[in-house]
Amino acid sequence: PGAPRMIIAVDGPSGSGKSSVCRAAATHLGAGYLDTGAMYRAATWYCLDQQIDLDDEEAVAVAVEELPMNISTDPDHQVICVGSQDVTDAIREPRISEKVSEVATNRRARSLLVAAQRRIIDEAGFIVAEGRDITTVVAPDAQVRVLLTASAEARLRRRGAQLGGTQDAEALKKQVLERDKKDSAASNFTEAADGVAVLDSSDLTFQETVDSLIGRVQIAQEDA
Ligand code: DC
Repeated sequence: PGAPRMIIAVDGPSGSGKSSVCRAAATHLGAGYLDTGAMYRAATWYCLDQQIDLDDEEAVAVAVEELPMNISTDPDHQVICVGSQDVTDAIREPRISEKVSEVATNRRARSLLVAAQRRIIDEAGFIVAEGRDITTVVAPDAQVRVLLTASAEARLRRRGAQLGGTQDAEALKKQVLERDKKDSAASNFTEAADGVAVLDSSDLTFQETVDSLIGRVQIAQEDA
């Protein structure tokens, strides 16, 4: 009875469509969903709220240790709270996006968040977890491990469409590439580790990408 235990680990760069693809797949499969990037963002929100100097590694680590964070694993109802405050929307603000890599490159903060992510995954049992180091560090023993990629051009195109197509193409490109560079300082997610399948979404529609991920899960379920 109940769904079998299965972890679906998905890594990839920003703009690969990872979050929407993973959420849709989780909904279809009846699985939970964990957005680990949201946890790094909430930690950053908290540090800024507490006026912690992000260059102070010790202070950031202490803040993350005491961080009263609660994140939902319902793919259709994503809520993240710090204490009693709902920060679901606030963590998407540019002021957070600009600073989050400073927290993500803090080794102690990372190991605390990785431990929290492992607990959430373990408790859920059947879950799609996405981020940058899920296939390699958080859940290397996941039954399904996928690196979701998209060419820089495809990611730029999607990001542009997301923003309404009104912004300067050069500025946007610079922003996306700078973000990649910053993110890769925290963990290498641009190459698939051993045993990790690459799913390149550059020339796939959203639904085709979701279906491909679901297909991999179904194959793993048949093998189980
Ligand atoms: O996916 P995102 O844009 O919400 O991620 C926010 C930041 O957190 C980004 O700088 C990458 C980092 N991150 C990470 O280092 N490890 C993860 N597992 C998830 C996100």
